[in-house]
Amino acid sequence: MEDKIRSIREAATTSVDAANDLPTLDAIRVRYLGKTGEISLLSQSMRDLSKEERPRFGSLLNEARSLVTDAIEQKTRALEAVAEKSRYAQFDATLPGPTLSRGASHPLTQLMGKAVAIFRRMGFSLADGPDIETEFHCFDALNTPADHPARNEQDTFYLPDGRLLRTHTSSVQIRVMENQPPPIRIIAPGAAYRRDEVDATHLAQFTQMEGLYVAESVSLADLKGSLEFFFRELFGAETQCRFRPHFFPFTEPSYEIDIRTALLGDSWMELAGCGMVDPAVFEAICQKRGDRAFDPEKISGFAFGFGLDRLAMNLLAIPDIRMLVETDLRFLRQFAN
Ligand code: DAH
Repeated sequence: MEDKIRSIREAATTSVDAANDLPTLDAIRVRYLGKTGEISLLSQSMRDLSKEERPRFGSLLNEARSLVTDAIEQKTRALEAVAEKSRYAQFDATLPGPTLSRGASHPLTQLMGKAVAIFRRMGFSLADGPDIETEFHCFDALNTPADHPARNEQDTFYLPDGRLLRTHTSSVQIRVMENQPPPIRIIAPGAAYRRDEVDATHLAQFTQMEGLYVAESVSLADLKGSLEFFFRELFGAETQCRFRPHFFPFTEPSYEIDIRTALLGDSWMELAGCGMVDPAVFEAICQKRGDRAFDPEKISGFAFGFGLDRLAMNLLAIPDIRMLVETDLRFLRQFAN
C-alpha cells in the first residue's frame, strides 16, 4: 500500500513538472485529485484496511494529497506568470493608440458663441434668469396687460402654482434691473417656451437672445447703430438692415428688424424685435425696487430680442427647425469643425 501511494505521488509530481500549459495541468488535477481520481480512489479503499493500519495509511495519503495539491498550485502560478509576461512581450508601445473621436458644439451653440462674442466687443456682458418665471417678470413688469394674448393659457405653459415657462427672454431684463442700477449693458441668451404646434418652423421650446442697454441719454441712434453693427459682423459688411415700425408692449417706439444680404438669398428677412424701453417698464422697476434709480425722466434704454433658431436656419440653410433638436448625427456632423 505504501508503495502504491508513493508511486502515485511520484507519477503525479513528475507529470506536474512536465506540464507546459494550464489545460494539461487541469487534466492532471482531475486525474489524481478529482472525485474518481487516483488519490480519491485510494481513500475509498481505506475501508478494506484493518483498524490498526488505517491511521498510518490515512496520514500518508493526506500527505500525498497536499503535496500534489501544492505542486499543482505552484505550477499554475508559474504558468500564469509566463502567460502574463508573453502578453506584455507582444505589446508594442510604438504603435499608434486607438483614436478618440472628438465631439463638437451644436450648430446653435456655435452661433450663440459668435453672437455673444460680437456683443462682448461692444461692452455687453452676459446675464441669466430662470426658465420658470413669475407672471410679474414675464408680463406685468413688461407692461403686458392681463388680457394680452401672450398670457392666454392656450399660448403659455403654466405651472399649477401660477408660475410659467417664460415665453421670451425679455424677463431677464426685469431680473437684471431689479438687482442692479444703471448703467446696464447685457445680453441674455436662453430657452423660451410657447404652446406652439410643432412643425417645420415651430418648436414648443426654442432659443432666444435678449439685449438691454440702459444709461443716461441712450438714443434710437445707439439702438440702430449697435444692431446694424451686430448683423454686419454676423452676415457680412454689405448686409442691409431695415427698422420697420411695429408694436411691443415693453418698448416705445418699437421696430422689427429685417435684413437683406446676398448670403441669405437677397430677400428681406424678419429677424428681430427691438425698441426704446417703455417708461412704464422703468416705473414698474422703480416700484419694485422702492427707489428712483430707473427714473424715466433721467435715464433711457433700448432693448432687443431675436430667435437664434431662426437665425441658424437662415445662416446654415437648415430647412426644418426640428432638425436642431433631433440629435441626428448625420445632420449634426455637417457642422462639426
Ligand atoms: N420678446 C419679443 C418676442 O419674444 C422679442 C423682443 C422684441 C424683445 C422687442 C425685446 C424687444 O427686447 O425690445 O417676440
